[in-house]
Amino acid sequence: MFVTRLIYFFVLFITTTSCDQFNLYGQAGQAYALEINVGHPVQKLNVLVDTGSTTLAIASYARIDSNKYFHADNSASLFNIGKEVQAKYSQGTWIGNLVSDFVNISTLPEVPEVKCDIALITKSHKFFMNGSGWQGLLGLAYLPVGAWGENVVVGSWLDSVEKALNKAMSFQLKLCGVRSSTNATHYGKLEMLDDNTVSLNHNVEFRTPILRKRWYEVGVLSIRVITNGNKSMNIIESNLTKDSDDYLNAYKETCVKLNEEKSIVDSGTTNIRLPDTLFGEVVEELKNAAASAYILILDGFWYRGESACWPEPQEWSLPSIAVDLLSADADNQYFTLEIPPQNFMRVVTAKNNSGEGGSVSEFCYKLGFEAGGKETILGYTAMEGLQVLFNRSAGWIGWYPSDCGPKARVTGPYNFSTSLLSLCQLTQPVPDVAVSIKAAQWTLCAVSIIAAAVLIYLLAPCVKIMIQTPLPMSQQISLSQAALVEQEAT
Ligand SMILES: *[C@@H]1O[C@H](CO)[C@@H](O)[C@H](O)[C@H]1NC(C)=O
Ligand SMILES: *[C@@H]1O[C@H](CO)[C@@H](O)[C@H](O)[C@H]1NC(C)=O
Ligand SMILES: *[C@@H]1O[C@H](CO)[C@@H](O)[C@H](O)[C@H]1NC(C)=O
Ligand SMILES: *[C@@H]1O[C@H](CO)[C@@H](O)[C@H](O)[C@H]1NC(C)=O
Ligand SMILES: *[C@@H]1O[C@H](CO)[C@@H](O)[C@H](O)[C@H]1NC(C)=O
Ligand SMILES: *[C@@H]1O[C@H](CO)[C@@H](O)[C@H](O)[C@H]1NC(C)=O
Ligand SMILES: *[C@@H]1O[C@H](CO)[C@@H](O)[C@H](O)[C@H]1NC(C)=O
Repeated sequence: MFVTRLIYFFVLFITTTSCDQFNLYGQAGQAYALEINVGHPVQKLNVLVDTGSTTLAIASYARIDSNKYFHADNSASLFNIGKEVQAKYSQGTWIGNLVSDFVNISTLPEVPEVKCDIALITKSHKFFMNGSGWQGLLGLAYLPVGAWGENVVVGSWLDSVEKALNKAMSFQLKLCGVRSSTNATHYGKLEMLDDNTVSLNHNVEFRTPILRKRWYEVGVLSIRVITNGNKSMNIIESNLTKDSDDYLNAYKETCVKLNEEKSIVDSGTTNIRLPDTLFGEVVEELKNAAASAYILILDGFWYRGESACWPEPQEWSLPSIAVDLLSADADNQYFTLEIPPQNFMRVVTAKNNSGEGGSVSEFCYKLGFEAGGKETILGYTAMEGLQVLFNRSAGWIGWYPSDCGPKARVTGPYNFSTSLLSLCQLTQPVPDVAVSIKAAQWTLCAVSIIAAAVLIYLLAPCVKIMIQTPLPMSQQISLSQAALVEQEAT
């Protein structure tokens, strides 16, 4: 009995201590970075954890503002694949050399050291931010949005890990936001989870299906301001019952607009990016709520991404934002993320200079929303205060409450009388086409060509892949950096 208790205690001890081991850090306004070890002997680098792209890409040259980079010559285990690859974001771009080398992440003990494709960035434009604490990106999305190169599919670190372990792995992001009201550094945790031995006992499952396996594309059905009593926003709920035609039409208008191009979950993007008209509606309503709570903020803050500063930290008495996501359990069902103002009134500066040489204390904030043409992006502003589980193989993303960060909530499920997939014109979830496996075959094929052991039947699937997933020269793979550059560099 005592022994069992002791074991129990140890298990508890180990789980609780490991739960508190944070491995993601970032400066205010920048995404979350993870320390990785590359090459032999090991070189330590910080890379942004980015669910909006797929390739592991690291700097291999000194930039004006940073001389921390990967020294390829110093790694004895590096293999030069000899291909040029590139990636284009909506603003930033980079060009690099494709190599393969060992990558190990000491804060992820479940994951072995693997040899994987790495893009060594040799040239970039508006990609690295001035004085940023990171030297590259760790892309965690699917292969079709990897870096582009002629006659080459750039493999992802995650695929290499799955291949080495010979099983499917999921990952979970627990992003906690700022440390305190006087320290704008934010922190969080990336965890890898074995699909076969899941021990997470989440009471309620709120899972949204991944509609297409490129980015993490999901069905975002509605985004609205939650005000007490006045629940209106895009939808006039006052008298309408859920199944009335007017309600359905109003809901439909919003959700079709949100998903017109795509809706993605992107940890590499800072803000929640909304189609222009919806951005206008949400911000107008927030602005009015602020005005009626006597919080005076200039329009530059609301509409132009400017920061607003105060001499002391702010407690926001603003409404939360509701984000409805399609449920994976039934296509007439959705659940709601409730995002409090602590998330979207983002801390960008927290300087307490009281008593220090007379300089002024400054606590600055930026709005966590931006307009984005036709796209919807749930950047990390929508993820802080929640645990987000990306089940890659099964094709869903789970949202759970978290023990750190802002008090974000998940509520539901709520039912509609009709299919939301068809109401909102979301394309049918594509069956798992195992893009990654096919592409891995192609990588193998490339190797066999080099080895002069070309087999026609081996090549056949490769040719198919090239037809199936052609990546146009300048495909924009993620907006991650663009959002950062646009918002923060100004
Ligand atoms: C980069 O930061 C340094 C020091 O923080 C500053 O002097 C320089 O002007 C900045 N460069 C750009 C392009 O913002
Ligand atoms: C903020 O927190 C980080 C991480 O704990 C720490 O390294 C840093 O020194 C702190 N900054 C200030 C201004 O206290
Ligand atoms: C991923 O989904 C599959 C199928 O639903 C399930 O068996 C597996 O346990 C899930 N993995 C995690 C980490 O939840
Ligand atoms: C609801 O909205 C109306 C008009 O916008 C406003 O006059 C009223 O005070 C609001 N009620 C509550 C409870 O916020
Ligand atoms: C709600 O119902 C009341 C009474 O039935 C009606 O007077 C009012 O106009 C309705 N409001 C809306 C927005 O339909
Ligand atoms: C700022 O620092 C002063 C003195 O160090 C302290 O008294 C005050 O509580 C701090 N303010 C905040 C908001 O932490
Ligand atoms: C919601 O829909 C699901 C699936 O269609 C059904 O199983 C469930 O009973 C419904 N719940 C309510 C409260 O109607």
